[in-house]
Amino acid sequence: MLVTLKSILTRANKGKYAVGAFNVNNLEILDAVIRAAERMRSPVIVQTSEGGVHYAGMEEVVALMRVEAKKAKVPVAVHLDHGKDVALLKKAIASGYTSVMIDGSSLPYARNIAVTKDIVRRAHAKNISVEAELGAIAGIEDFVSVAERDAHFTSLEQAADFVRKTKCDALAIAVGTSHGAYKFKSEARLDIRRIREIKKKTRLPLVLHGASGISPELLKRMHKHCSVFGDCARLEGARGVSDRMIRAAIKAGINKINIDSDLRIAFTAAVREQLLKDKKTFDPRVILGSARTLMQKVVEEKMKLFGSAGKA
Ligand code: G3H
Ligand code: 13P
Ligand code: ZN
Repeated sequence: MLVTLKSILTRANKGKYAVGAFNVNNLEILDAVIRAAERMRSPVIVQTSEGGVHYAGMEEVVALMRVEAKKAKVPVAVHLDHGKDVALLKKAIASGYTSVMIDGSSLPYARNIAVTKDIVRRAHAKNISVEAELGAIAGIEDFVSVAERDAHFTSLEQAADFVRKTKCDALAIAVGTSHGAYKFKSEARLDIRRIREIKKKTRLPLVLHGASGISPELLKRMHKHCSVFGDCARLEGARGVSDRMIRAAIKAGINKINIDSDLRIAFTAAVREQLLKDKKTFDPRVILGSARTLMQKVVEEKMKLFGSAGKA
């Protein structure tokens, strides 16, 4: 079923669980996510970043997501992740997304409110939900002092004011996570108290970005055949957000959890292993099929962890 983000997150907010939002760039990733959702009987959000749209084409990737969402036996929202380019956001609102994220987090506060309000007005007129962002999403260890941290993390006072003025449907907050595979040098630490306080002030579905767990087992499998240079090589010892922290964040009020890096690692691990294991084939369906299977397993585990399994 194709549904709005708002309908999925209103239920999650009431039921005190979170729904996974998975970044999709091609058919295999999309299939893996939808198959997992059906198997787990879980609602799910499939999303494309602006980079994903440039890679796959907006019309093409939206058509794929909508077809699979409509056929799915579980609720599926089709979402634009981190929309920053207003022209692209307007195109997304006209192109079949059931929700968009307006990421005005790098703008001055008043400008973030103005831009978000404008997107909310345009989107709501078409029954499209809006996620907004307040605060700078970067790791807790990026800040040397508490004062510096407070200046970057989502402010409690601003959160209440922002939600009231913009009328957004969900709010992404900065509480210590960061994008990519390297988040922490040791055990993950998030500002759980801040999540709880923002929830109390806004009562809105809250969103956790940069939430990949970076499974040591999958990292090892991917890393085994890595080059000794470059991005992949640099991932040795990377740490993500622990399951314990994810549970605490959900308990404090998180209802949407964004995952991209964990799927990238699973995809690359499976493709590298498959190419080395079976040097006789040159059939893309065999090579990419192995990635689809492993990504599905990763998504199923997330749905159990987030508490959305069985909630469709
Ligand atoms: O939050 C960002 C996602 O991980 C998307 O990354 O812009 O490389 O598609 P991307
Ligand atoms: P990860 O890099 O932790 O997977 O975060 C993805 C994300 O927040 C997409 O918006
Ligand atoms: Zn993000």
